[in-house]
Amino acid sequence: MLESAPRRVTTVWGDEHDAVDAAVRWAMQRVVRPSNPKATARPAAEIAAAAGDTITPEGIGAEGALQVFTEILEPATRAQDDPMNLAYVPAAPTRAAIAFDLVTSSANIFGGLWEAGAGAIWAENQALRWIADLLGWGPEAMGCFVSGGTTGNLSALAAARHRALTARGSRPPEGWQIAASAGAHSSIAAAARILDVDVIDVPEDERGHLTGAALREVVTDTSRVFAVVASAGTTNAGLIDDLHGIADFCDEHRIWMHVDGAYGGAGLVSPTLRPQYDGIERADSFIVDPHKWLFAPYDCCALVYRQGASATAAHAQHASYLDQVDRDAANPADLAIHLSRRVRGLSLWFSLATHGTDRYAAAVDRTVAIAREVAEGIAETPHLELLKAPELTVMLFERPGWTAEDYRHWSDDLAKAGVMLCVPTQWQGRPVLRLVFVNPETDPQQVLTVLRETLTPSHYVSG
Ligand SMILES: Cc1ncc(COP(=O)(O)O)c(C=O)c1O
Repeated sequence: MLESAPRRVTTVWGDEHDAVDAAVRWAMQRVVRPSNPKATARPAAEIAAAAGDTITPEGIGAEGALQVFTEILEPATRAQDDPMNLAYVPAAPTRAAIAFDLVTSSANIFGGLWEAGAGAIWAENQALRWIADLLGWGPEAMGCFVSGGTTGNLSALAAARHRALTARGSRPPEGWQIAASAGAHSSIAAAARILDVDVIDVPEDERGHLTGAALREVVTDTSRVFAVVASAGTTNAGLIDDLHGIADFCDEHRIWMHVDGAYGGAGLVSPTLRPQYDGIERADSFIVDPHKWLFAPYDCCALVYRQGASATAAHAQHASYLDQVDRDAANPADLAIHLSRRVRGLSLWFSLATHGTDRYAAAVDRTVAIAREVAEGIAETPHLELLKAPELTVMLFERPGWTAEDYRHWSDDLAKAGVMLCVPTQWQGRPVLRLVFVNPETDPQQVLTVLRETLTPSHYVSG
């Protein structure tokens, strides 16, 4: 493959041509072949026994290291992009996006400051502008790509607290608070712990949404509250909160509204789904993980602020060695918790530029259609019960009579056989099954066949 490329021999590392050739060949093969649904985690001791010593004074050579990776390490990882992986929130990157991640790595651009990464940051900003347009945000909107929803949520909440601190002049003696429902992702509680703020737990309505009415009822004293977190696609059930109601509450009390769309924000791309997000234009910050349902590889979260300047005050780092460069430019480092960063948004930009936004809308719509077909099929199956029809592409259902243990056995068996990945969760205090669709290549009839044939009335009933 690299025969025509000039050989570069460096003093310390010598000729790495064979290492480069082997790695690039491997990547070429991997990006086009389907992933192995049977690949799965193994205990560390087993991996160690199979791989042997890999870090040695002399090195084991590129061929040896790649062999260990191919035969032992990669098979001990889950295939996130398998179309029958419907657990947690899987992934479905385009091949264009994955391939461009290789390009991004090869170019090894420092993406923290405009001065070092201007061209690449410009392209990332194009992708962020597309997202800001979908949100209905104006030219003051600014953002950057961070590693994932967890860092995105933390960064947005840190910016929110900074704005409140600036407005109030000091920390409330009893400390700060945020308000969120139990449906908010676990990263919100983690962010609160890191920021040392309390979380007011606001009850969801009977359908599982956080509403403005519930906020009004529970959050009667807002003197310590600096942010409300709304979800645009909860992880467990895929629900979009009452965004207008939440925005009304936040406007009234001058509280920052953050929308976590890590999974479900992708639905903004679809003109058909867009009305479900009405009110999102009133939020102060938003995240979406393109590595979930926007067809990009890990790790990629788009964090956008409606008023970019509100975030730079919170996040910009200053030091004599940094302030030598032009700090007036829009630096991604000034918008989140990071300084050095890879330009991870480039893979999304390349895929968007390659395929066009219409194809993205069609891919999202196709995924929604798949989820609905499976939901209808479950509803029509006598021994299954659909509990939560998908608002987006998450659905909850049960096999009445089955226990948590039955579900676990069933889930493990199917995973081991490489048939399907579906893991149980809890809904309203009871064990249920959950499916998450992000892959437009999933065959809904294949999913239904597996469910109907394996969730049989007799199989695994405990006791
Ligand atoms: C709604 C939501 N927010 C945040 C996260 C955390 O994202 P990440 O795993 O990229 O940190 C997730 C992950 O599933 C999520 O579904």
